[in-house]
Amino acid sequence: MRDATLDTPKQTAATSAPFGTVFSKWMPLSRFADGRWSEVETVPVAPLSIHPGAHVLHYSSTCFEGLKAFRMPDGSIRIFRLDRHVERFRSSSELLCLPTPPAEMLEQMVRSVVELSRDDVPAPPGALYLRPLLIGTEANIGAAGTASTEALLYVLASPVGDYFAGGGRPLRILIEEEAMRCAPGFGMAKTGGNYAAALRHIIQARNEHNADQVLFCPGGDVQETGASNFFLLDDRRLMTKPLDGSFLHGVTRDSVITLARHLGYEVLERDFTVDEVKDWIRTGEAALSGTAAVLTGVGTFIHEGREYQVGDGRVGRNTQRLREALVAIQTGVAEDPFGWLS
Ligand SMILES: Cc1ncc(COP(=O)(O)O)c(C=O)c1O
Repeated sequence: MRDATLDTPKQTAATSAPFGTVFSKWMPLSRFADGRWSEVETVPVAPLSIHPGAHVLHYSSTCFEGLKAFRMPDGSIRIFRLDRHVERFRSSSELLCLPTPPAEMLEQMVRSVVELSRDDVPAPPGALYLRPLLIGTEANIGAAGTASTEALLYVLASPVGDYFAGGGRPLRILIEEEAMRCAPGFGMAKTGGNYAAALRHIIQARNEHNADQVLFCPGGDVQETGASNFFLLDDRRLMTKPLDGSFLHGVTRDSVITLARHLGYEVLERDFTVDEVKDWIRTGEAALSGTAAVLTGVGTFIHEGREYQVGDGRVGRNTQRLREALVAIQTGVAEDPFGWLS
């Protein structure tokens, strides 16, 4: 039988396909065993063989990253904030008690997959989405309380278009005050278990309210959605939760904050409640930030069975302005004053 996953992506098809469903042909891979990482190999993206007793399959010893490479106006390819993503990957790996790859090795693997996938990188607004993944592979089903001594690390590349189909469409977001997306203190780990914990809430929100995502606000504390950070904005200010262990420390979050300060906005990093969100959106804006979402406006919140329109229900001008400023840097159309591209 023909294996469609081995097909080389065709650019147009890749960017119109659902986000993350088309893969480049090759990936760099390294194994950890006997206390050391193997020489990095380049292998085809194809089904892997791992032991059915592998640590990851039973005890979820896994973490990943998500970052993008962009095609510049001169045709060259640059990666957005690689150092930050490598740093977060290593910190997730430590939280998961996995063997942590050296930063230079991981950086080199990401650069290598970009080079291997060079012809697959779509023109903006598309990009090459990069997905480093680390899993514990020791065959030991009695190791619930011990770290995997073996691991597998590889980096996938996927040409992508818009994450939220429809691009600039304002989102519908369900406010959830009871459920948590992750265990307290584990929010800054980018690990599958956190997404597994959030999944049923997102599916329920979609089925029952036609919502695009869930904003997790346990006990009223506004944290993040299932796949992005959260901002309130107006003509002068930007507000978001300060860094703590309850949510993922987004690289886009940091970039939006830096850019907003540069453009003269006042940035408020403080805890806030669902009531404050409802109050703010009477006149202000709300948006989600993330590598995939970039900065996407919220048009409607759903809370306790009622709908709340954000401003006039359309993507706000400040959201639009910051999104455009960020995309212009990412795609090489504007100067990169912060040295984010490499
Ligand atoms: C749960 C969660 N929060 C926040 C983000 C945003 O992080 P970043 O801006 O680094 O992509 C993501 C996306 O990757 C995410 O999955």
